[in-house]
Amino acid sequence: MPPIIPSPDRTVSLSALRSLLQERSVLAALQVFHDQLGSIFQIDLPGFKPVMLSGPEAARFVLVSSREDFRWRSEGDPVTALLRHSVLVEDGDTHDWLRRSMNPALHKSMMMRYTETMSRCADEVICTWADGSTRDMLVEMRRIALLILMETLFKVDLTPDMQRLWQPILKSIQYISPGLWVIWPGTPRPGYAAALRRLDDYLFQIIRARRATPGTADDLLGMLITIPDMTDDLIRDQLLTMLIAGHDTSTALLSWTLYLLGKHPDAMRQVQAEVLSTLGQEVPTLEMTAKLAYLDQVLHEALRLYPPIHLGQRRAAVDLEFQGYTIPAGARVMYSIYLTHRMGAYWDDPHQFRPERFNPENRPQPYTYLPFGGGPRNCIGALFGQVEAKIVLARILQQTTLTLAQDNVHAHMGATLEPRPGVMMRIQRQIQRSAATYP
Ligand code: HEM
Repeated sequence: MPPIIPSPDRTVSLSALRSLLQERSVLAALQVFHDQLGSIFQIDLPGFKPVMLSGPEAARFVLVSSREDFRWRSEGDPVTALLRHSVLVEDGDTHDWLRRSMNPALHKSMMMRYTETMSRCADEVICTWADGSTRDMLVEMRRIALLILMETLFKVDLTPDMQRLWQPILKSIQYISPGLWVIWPGTPRPGYAAALRRLDDYLFQIIRARRATPGTADDLLGMLITIPDMTDDLIRDQLLTMLIAGHDTSTALLSWTLYLLGKHPDAMRQVQAEVLSTLGQEVPTLEMTAKLAYLDQVLHEALRLYPPIHLGQRRAAVDLEFQGYTIPAGARVMYSIYLTHRMGAYWDDPHQFRPERFNPENRPQPYTYLPFGGGPRNCIGALFGQVEAKIVLARILQQTTLTLAQDNVHAHMGATLEPRPGVMMRIQRQIQRSAATYP
């Protein structure tokens, strides 16, 4: 008989519950399970029994060596219901075709075109911050990330529709976030249909408008409409995926980074000095962002401590063997990026913010650092997300000095890992309005 995958007993469960209540985060409970049970354990709730994996061996197993034996699509899950035939929830040839269709819009060669738009969208929001005011950076970063995503990848200015679509967008994120449906998949979920319909109407309207006036195909939407088998329904699925996956992650990364800098004023001063000495008040170009070495380390460390996508979810397609345990076909499998990023065996003082650990001499060991996943289904927007984060932070630090106004933040597991209830920061303006000129 193969050994049974360990599950938390009563004592471990009570200790996990204590941590959960203390830190107001399910992640604290997962940390207890991991510390007590190791790199493979099974959560044992009624109707929800995922096998949790963590550490480099598990990452290599899920992302590379056995990846063909896992499925991304899980019928009945809200993410499949919402995104239907998106690259994110398709497998096999369909997935590969969709990914190939979208890759060119996120290729390095496109980033040069996007950088100026990224700065302009950041400035559009930053210029609304009054000197001496306090703002929630979780909200502000979402506004910036939404404007950037829509304008770079769909060539649509969201500004006039932002207010009207804000709630539907938040509702769509909430719809795919963990909730009671995890334990009782049939749980009624009232209140979403109208919001999701409004978002769909908007997406179909921009697809129709673009088909009517295609212009140049130098953005994602422009490229998708030129592909013969790409129906409006399929395009809608990809646009909604990019809209959610491409802005909610950046919102989390930017707001966690500002929070960490607010908690560590020395790092904030150092990063701001680097930005000002490298860029002055210039609008950053792609080459200039490559010179922001300390900002790069800060972003890596924020992604390590608070990876916006903190776990990857799969279904085992066949019976699988991992470290002597059998994972049965059909089991829900989750590999935890968060736990892997905080393993004492690979990271000194794993819970501490130390950007220097990412200086170029210290390369993390293989498969210990996975903020963008790994293998052939790694994040398609990894470069986009990193360039965007540098540009937005650079524009903020060129124009303002920020201090943390409240420190009551905990890590909330939504569709991404979010700093809740928000990141309140006091704004001191260095210059009243952006001096940047755009064509
Ligand atoms: C800070 C920013 C980002 C982070 C941390 C992040 C993280 C990730 C991770 C960890 C995965 C793999 C998940 C798994 O293995 O289960 C992933 C996949 C994906 N990401 Fe990102 N992401 C970011 C930005 C973006 C952006 C900007 C876009 C689009 C513009 C995007 C679109 C996607 C898509 C479509 C996939 C699925 C790829 C596939 O299955 O082939 N992400 N992301």
